[in-house]
Amino acid sequence: MSLQHIAFIMDGNGRWAKKHGKPRFLGHEAGMNKIEEVCNWCKEYNIKYGSFFAFSKENWNRPKNEVDFIFSLIERYYQDQINKLMSNKIRFIHIGDKSTLPTKTNHILNELENITKENDTFNLLFFFNYSSREEINNAAIYFAQELSKKNIKDEDGNLTFSSFLLTANFPDPDLLIRTSGEMRISNFLLYQIAYTELYFEPQLWPEYTKSHFVKAIESFYKRDRRFGKIKE
Ligand code: IPE
Ligand code: IPE
Ligand code: MG
Repeated sequence: MSLQHIAFIMDGNGRWAKKHGKPRFLGHEAGMNKIEEVCNWCKEYNIKYGSFFAFSKENWNRPKNEVDFIFSLIERYYQDQINKLMSNKIRFIHIGDKSTLPTKTNHILNELENITKENDTFNLLFFFNYSSREEINNAAIYFAQELSKKNIKDEDGNLTFSSFLLTANFPDPDLLIRTSGEMRISNFLLYQIAYTELYFEPQLWPEYTKSHFVKAIESFYKRDRRFGKIKE
């Protein structure tokens, strides 16, 4: 059974800060730092793709100073991240709605993508300003446009719906891990997780450790993925 793609819902930054008597923004800082560690663990386990949910479109509804701080983290870490991504041979891919991001943020995310595009040991899919339902709605529109252009009903099966999703070039996650004990998906990869194994970790994201990660992987390998078939 292969494990090539893990998706992470990095939840619990705010509660971690509260627990330690710190302001919420320090939770986001600690949470962002954790991504690098987790990428290294994935590489050790020969996992090729890691999807990290960092900011949802619904997160715009938080206080402006919290949102502003999250955006400032991207700017602050940019130079440092380029060097680390290059030395660890990690390819960075931004997934999310670029049209409603500030120009500066888009510029940074594009730069990270361009500079790292030849790296091939690990693919870091960074979900920022992402909404799965919006992605599906947009894919439906693009799909319909293509079909009408070609004036076909896709009878020959050349066009597949998933090729219009933002994740078209990447495999579906094998395992999805959400930290902080919440057992919900919160508008993340709704289409792509049809057969993904789900794992809910009580630990808060900033205090997520390698042993929690290894426990999730061990749990994955004990599961019986049947994909609708009968066990051999
Ligand atoms: C996840 O941590 C990060 C974002 C959603 C941006 P939270 O900020 O949601 O942390 P909690 O859920 O309040 O503890
Ligand atoms: C999900 O966490 C989004 C990210 C981790 C970026 P939230 O904290 O926003 O989710 P809810 O509101 O608890 O469902
Ligand atoms: Mg949360």
